[in-house]
Amino acid sequence: MTEQTDAPTTDETVEPATGRRLRLSVIGTGYLGATHAAAMAELGFDVVGVDVDPAKVAALSAGEVPFYEPGLPELLVRGVDSGRLRFTTDLAEAAAFADVHFVCVGTPQRPGSNGADLRYVEAAFEGLAQHLTHDALLVGKSTVPVGTGARLAARVREIAPAGLRVELAWNPEFLREGKAVQDTLTPDRVVVGGASEWGDDLLRQVYARAVADGTPFIATDLPTAELVKVSANAFLATKISFINAISQVCDKAGADVTVLADALGHDVRIGRQFLNAGLGFGGGCLPKDIRALMHRAGELGADSLVDLMQDVDEINMWQRQRVIDMAVQACGGSVLNRRIGVLGAAFKPDTDDVRDSPALNVAAGLHLRGAQVVVFDPKAGDTGKRIFPSLTYGASTEEAVTGADVVLVLTEWPEFRTADPSALLELTKPGATVIDARNCLPVDAWREAGWTYRGLGAAR
Ligand code: UGA
Repeated sequence: MTEQTDAPTTDETVEPATGRRLRLSVIGTGYLGATHAAAMAELGFDVVGVDVDPAKVAALSAGEVPFYEPGLPELLVRGVDSGRLRFTTDLAEAAAFADVHFVCVGTPQRPGSNGADLRYVEAAFEGLAQHLTHDALLVGKSTVPVGTGARLAARVREIAPAGLRVELAWNPEFLREGKAVQDTLTPDRVVVGGASEWGDDLLRQVYARAVADGTPFIATDLPTAELVKVSANAFLATKISFINAISQVCDKAGADVTVLADALGHDVRIGRQFLNAGLGFGGGCLPKDIRALMHRAGELGADSLVDLMQDVDEINMWQRQRVIDMAVQACGGSVLNRRIGVLGAAFKPDTDDVRDSPALNVAAGLHLRGAQVVVFDPKAGDTGKRIFPSLTYGASTEEAVTGADVVLVLTEWPEFRTADPSALLELTKPGATVIDARNCLPVDAWREAGWTYRGLGAAR
């Protein structure tokens, strides 16, 4: 391992005790870890990122981000070129190198259960603890069920070499895919649970820039920090399911849910964000986090939350069925051998992530009912193909809509919102219907161009 001394140091990156830059490790280099590692190097720290996947480590070491995240490639290249950021598959190397270790590995839903699969988190903490050679702060950033941190802290104490100061804290992450760089460099809050005075000092040093810019630093206990994270996602999910339930009433009553949401949003107690009715939430976080919360709340006997999350999940999943039903209806009762153009595969715009994507779920549902489905997504075609290879993927919006009886807009990419409806209608079968499942198109322009327009809870 070479000593890295060429990069400029700033006061906030230098450890007062040793006079050298604070060294950080980031375990797990997915959306969260890769972004955190690159952002920490950008702030001036020496960082090593660790992943079990050698292909990912090779790509990141070469300055290539193995997924689509705006702004991250530039940040990664700057970090690698500066000599402050490198990647390895060797956890022992990271344990020997860093003072503060951030665990950013995935906590997916356990197969056959609503609970979270904690095996990667446990392996990361246990592996680090085994290999430590000097005092270290182990920081969990992964989203975990409440109670995990306390259990891991006890385990780490058992395993870590005697005589070292080894502590654990939880520092949940609130970044959004598509905005990960901005959210990591300028978070809207820093939450730290379970840190001693020593751990608190180290983390205040890590987040010194944000704190100096006025970002609230909330120091609390482990369970509160763990619960802040899952409650935030549960609240966002609840907001989305609430507006989707209202959109169903709007459909029945002839009201317009978008105008309604705008009007609600003017009330600062409510706010306009996360009130876009449509196909509902997906992705690698919200769905599995509300299920893990449901599961954990059940274990703890907090039954009201179990019921609430169950309803939120059901409303959300029902939106997918609602859009499938709309497509069936637009095809006159059956989609068998009908051509359906699907615009969007990613779970939201500005990402190529298709984990639990509502768009792909609907596309696959129609395909299974015998429709000829052609999907186009500006970034998520390849990732979509990997999990749903049986669908046909077009190379453009035009290719997806050509010959279509019905066109479905399932992810609100800007290029779909700004597409020319007249030009597209020339490519479809005569009298085609567009189902705007994200309520994102300029309705009047599409109607004037001759489309039969259907939105969700869109009276117009
Ligand atoms: C979410 C949270 O927003 C982050 O704060 C959190 O850090 C992250 O999960 C995580 O736990 O790691 P993300 O999964 O990137 O972030 O996606 P969101 O922007 O929250 O969108 C989630 C889903 O909700 C998308 O499918 C989106 O289309 C849908 N959505 C969002 C709506 O249907 N309506 C809305 O009004 C807003």
